This record gives sequence, structure tokens and C-alpha cells, in this order.
Amino acid sequence: QQSTLFPYTTLFRSQTVFGDGNPGAELMFVGEGPGREEDEQGIPFVGAAGQLLTKMIAAMQFERSQVYIANIVKCRPPRNRVPEPGEAQACLPFLKRQIELVRPKVIVTLGATPLQYLLGKTGIGRERGIWCDLDGIPVMPTYHPAYLLRAPERKGEAWSDLKQVMARLGGSPAETSRRREGTSGTP
Ligand code: URA
Repeated sequence: QQSTLFPYTTLFRSQTVFGDGNPGAELMFVGEGPGREEDEQGIPFVGAAGQLLTKMIAAMQFERSQVYIANIVKCRPPRNRVPEPGEAQACLPFLKRQIELVRPKVIVTLGATPLQYLLGKTGIGRERGIWCDLDGIPVMPTYHPAYLLRAPERKGEAWSDLKQVMARLGGSPAETSRRREGTSGTP
């Protein structure tokens, strides 16, 4: 069944959206899957939700180019629907390899889809803000920025999750400034 999924989704998308950012990043974000703008540009999180994510990254004192951004599925699902389990499973080995290669210090998952497929959990409202472990990497689940655009009253909760991530990455002022200058990436 899985082998038919690639041709199926590739009928609807214009290109694969694999990932973006610094392959030596200490901070990695995982979203759901490309939308229309991402499918057009081949870059994750460039639409409205992406602009909010970019602001969230800046609020954390990172440049977008210093972090790494990926998604559960690499092809835009038809009409932006939530990825089906088979599609997520088909793409998961690619994401796992991205995580292995980047080896981030912390992963932030955005919304219900990565919570489900990367961490095997449901209930983002309950699970957000609580650290998880993925093969030794600390993972912080938080809300998806597209949800925050619809429910701005939840932004405070997301910010408290991101502050936990900043505290965990912490480091000395020197480390922080190196990170700002974009020279902190492990090769
Ligand atoms: N939403 C996602 O989950 N990923 C993207 O790349 C864009 C929007």
C-alpha cells in the first residue's frame, strides 16, 4: 500500500519541500507539511504561518538561518488536508535521517501532526509545554503557528514553551552572541 503513496501525492504537488536552514543547527523545528506557498517556493514555512514562525524564532534570539526547519511530510497534501497516516509513515524515514544528520540539541514540534508521528502522542493542548525525549534529544511540543493565527489568545502559552527551550539551550552570553553571529553550528 505504501509504495503507491508517493505517486499519489506527487500528482498534486509541484515540488518536494525537504527542509531549510543550518544543517549544524542546535535548534530544529518540525511542522506538519507544506502548504501552497511552500509548494511553490520549495521552502518550508514561508506562508502566513511561516511568517509567524520566523517571528517566534527571532523572539528566541535566533536568526531563521541559524535553525533548521522540516516537516512530517515533504509533499503538499491535496487541498492542504492533514497528512494521512500512510503518507506520514512514508516520509518519516527522511525526517529521522534529517534529525540524525543535524543532531540538534533541542527539537520543537509544531502542532498535533508531529506530536502524533514523531512522539506517538495525541492531545496537543495537554502535551504542549512538557518535555519529551526522542532518542536522547529533548523535544518540546508547542502549538502550530497556523493555530496561533486563529487563536492568538494562545500565544502566551506558546511563548512560555519557547522560553523553556531558550532556558535549555541557555549557555553563556558568549555562546549566545556566537549563535547570533551564526558561527555556532557544529560542522
Ligand atoms: N505549515 C507546516 O506545517 N509546514 C510548512 O512548511 C508550512 C506550513
